[in-house]
Amino acid sequence: MKSINQDINAITILAIESSCDDTSAAILRGGKILSNCVATQEIHRLYGGVVPEVASRQHQINIVPIVDAAFKKAGVSKQDIDAVAFTRGPGLIGSLLVGVSFAKAFALSLDVPLIEVHHMTAHVLAHFAEEPKPHFPFLCLTVSGGHTQIVLVKDYLDMTILGQTTDDAAGEAFDKTGKILGLDYPAGPVIDKLARLGNPIFEFPEPRIPGLDFSFSGLKTSILYFLQKKVKENPDFIAENLNDICASVQSRIVSILMNKLKLAAAQTGIKEIAIAGGVSANSALRETLKTTGDTEGWTTYIPKFEYCTDNAAMIAVTAYQKYLRADFVGQEVAPLPRLEMG
Ligand code: KG4
Ligand code: ZN
Repeated sequence: MKSINQDINAITILAIESSCDDTSAAILRGGKILSNCVATQEIHRLYGGVVPEVASRQHQINIVPIVDAAFKKAGVSKQDIDAVAFTRGPGLIGSLLVGVSFAKAFALSLDVPLIEVHHMTAHVLAHFAEEPKPHFPFLCLTVSGGHTQIVLVKDYLDMTILGQTTDDAAGEAFDKTGKILGLDYPAGPVIDKLARLGNPIFEFPEPRIPGLDFSFSGLKTSILYFLQKKVKENPDFIAENLNDICASVQSRIVSILMNKLKLAAAQTGIKEIAIAGGVSANSALRETLKTTGDTEGWTTYIPKFEYCTDNAAMIAVTAYQKYLRADFVGQEVAPLPRLEMG
C-alpha cells in the first residue's frame, strides 16, 4: 500500500459522487479543489423524476469519461493519487454501487487507501471548498431532494442533527409542486425562475410542527386542493397564474425553512449560519438568508452554485479531513442506502 503522504499540501485525492442522478468526479490537492466535473442525467426529465434503474445504467456510462475529465482538468496523473474517496450513502443503492465499485477497483489498482464519505456530511463540508469558510461551531440548514436538516457543526467530522423533516424534504416540496403544475423535473430551478416573474399573492398555510423539525407534506396537499378548486372555476387558472403560484409556493417553503433556522439560532446562540444542498441554490432562500442575517447579526455562508447540488468536490473536501485522521476503509466496504450521519 502507498505510504501516507505526510505533506498536507500535497495530499491528492480522487473523489467520486454517484448517490442519485449526477455522476461526478473531483480532484483535490492539499485541501484545494483542482477539478470538479459533473455529468447530469437529463434522461429523467422524460419520466418526471429519477428512475433508479435508469440512473445506475447512466452512471455506468458516465463514470469513466467523467473521471478522465477530472484528471485532465486538474492536470494530475494517476500516480499522484494518494487516496480514492466515494459516497457510501445515503442514496439509491444501484447508483451508489457504481461509484463504490469504481472507487474500490481504482484504489486497488493504484494500491492506495479508500475513504468512505457520508453524502449529507459532505453537503455541509462543501463550505470548506473555498473561502470564506465558516467558523466552528456553526449551524447548517441542509436542504436537498431527499433531506431537510438543521445541523449543529462542532467540527469537520463532529455534527449533530438538531431538527429534520418528518415527511417530505424541501426539494421534494418543490419537485412535487412542479409535478402538479406540469413543470419539468427537477422543478426547483424552474419554480425559482418563474417565481422571479410573479408575486406571492396566494396564501399557503405554515405547518405547526414543534421544535426544530419540519413537515412539507401538508403544504403539498394544500397546494393540490387549492389548484383543484381554482381549476374547477377556471380551467386556465394555472396557465394564467403560473408565476404567482410559483412565487407563493416558494415564498412559503422559504419562510418555513427560515423560521426554523431562526429558532435554532436563538436556542443555540450561534450566529455563524450556513445553508447547503440543492435547494440552497434557490435565489429567494439565498436572498432571505442574507437579509435575515443582516437583521439578526449573523455571519452567513452561501455556497457557490456548483457546490450546492450534488458534486464530488464536497466528497473530496470531506475525504481530505478523513485522510488527515487516517480514517480509511477496506475493500469489503459496501454502499448503504440509508446511512445515518455521524
Ligand atoms: O442536493 P441535490 O442536488 O440532490 C440530493 O441530494 O437530493 O438536491 C436536489 C434538489 C431537487 O429537489 C431540486 O429541485 C432542488 O434540489 N433544487 C432547487 C433549486 N436547484 C435545485 N430547489 C429550489 N430552487 C433551486 N434553484
Ligand atoms: Zn445531495
